[in-house]
Amino acid sequence: MATVEEKLARSLSSEGVDIIPYLPYLLQDLWELGSSPRDMLEMVKRHLKISSGIKVLDLACGKGAVSILLAKELGCRIKGIDIVPEFIAYAEQKALAWGVDKLCTFSTGDITQSVHTETGYDLVILGAVGDVLGNPEETIVLLKKTLKKGGYILIDDAYGNDPGNEDYYNRTQWLRFMENAGVELVDEKPIEKEEITAINQEQQAHIIKRARELKEQRPENAQLFDRYIQSQQSECDELENEITGVTLLLRTRDDNCTK
Ligand SMILES: C[S@@+](CC[C@H](N)C(=O)[O-])C[C@H]1O[C@@H](n2cnc3c(N)ncnc32)[C@H](O)[C@@H]1O
Repeated sequence: MATVEEKLARSLSSEGVDIIPYLPYLLQDLWELGSSPRDMLEMVKRHLKISSGIKVLDLACGKGAVSILLAKELGCRIKGIDIVPEFIAYAEQKALAWGVDKLCTFSTGDITQSVHTETGYDLVILGAVGDVLGNPEETIVLLKKTLKKGGYILIDDAYGNDPGNEDYYNRTQWLRFMENAGVELVDEKPIEKEEITAINQEQQAHIIKRARELKEQRPENAQLFDRYIQSQQSECDELENEITGVTLLLRTRDDNCTK
C-alpha cells in the first residue's frame, strides 16, 4: 500500500518521494495547484443557500486558492488543511492580503487523519487530490463523515475518456461509485480542452524555469529535476488526451449521513 509521502508526491505529479523537499521551490510561482476556483465558486453559488454561517472544509487545500476565493465572495468560514507547511504559510499570507484572514483558518495536517476528526460542515472540498483518500467510492464515504446531514461535496477530479482503458474511471464508473457511497450528482462541469492546454502550458513554463535553477544549484540532483519535468509533462498530456478534468458537486442523502 502506498505511504502518505508516496501519495503526496503523486498528488503533485511525481512518482518518487525524493522530490518532496523541492516541491515548494518548484511550485513557488503557482497559486492554483489543480482545481479551478472560479468553477467551484460558480457551482456553489448556483446550488447552495449561502449565508455567513455556512461552514466549509477544504481538504488538501494547497495554497488556499479555492478557500480564499470562496471566503471573499461568499463571506463564509473556511478551514483549509494541507500536509505541506510552506503551502499553508503561503495561504495564510494570501488570506491576509485578500482581507479574509478572519474567515479562513489554515492548518498543516494529514487529511487521511482529518476526515475522522473534522465534523459538522455544510460543504467539504477535495480539489485535484487524486487517490490520497482511496478510490472515488472510498473517498466519498470518508468525505461524508465530515458533513452535516444533507451536506455537499465539491470534488475536482477526472473522467477517463475511453471506457476500454482500465487505467482511469470513466463517467459511468464514477456514477456507480456515487450511488454506492450514497450521494447524488447535483452538477458537473468538464473542463474545455483549450482551457486545460493553456493552463498546462503556463504552469509548465514556470516549473521548468524553477527546475533549471535547481539544476544549477544542485547539479548532483539534475536527474531528479529532469524526471519531475517529465512526469509533469506526462500528466499534462494525460489531461489533454486520455482524461477529462471535471468539477463535481454531490449532495449526501440524509439517511446515509453520519452526523
Ligand atoms: C494538486 S494539489 C491541489 C491543491 C488544491 N486543492 C488546489 O486545487 O489548488 C494536491 C494537494 O494535496 C496535498 N496533499 C497530498 N496528500 C495530502 C495529505 N495526506 N494530507 C494533506 N494534504 C495532502 C498536497 O500537499 C497538495 O497541496
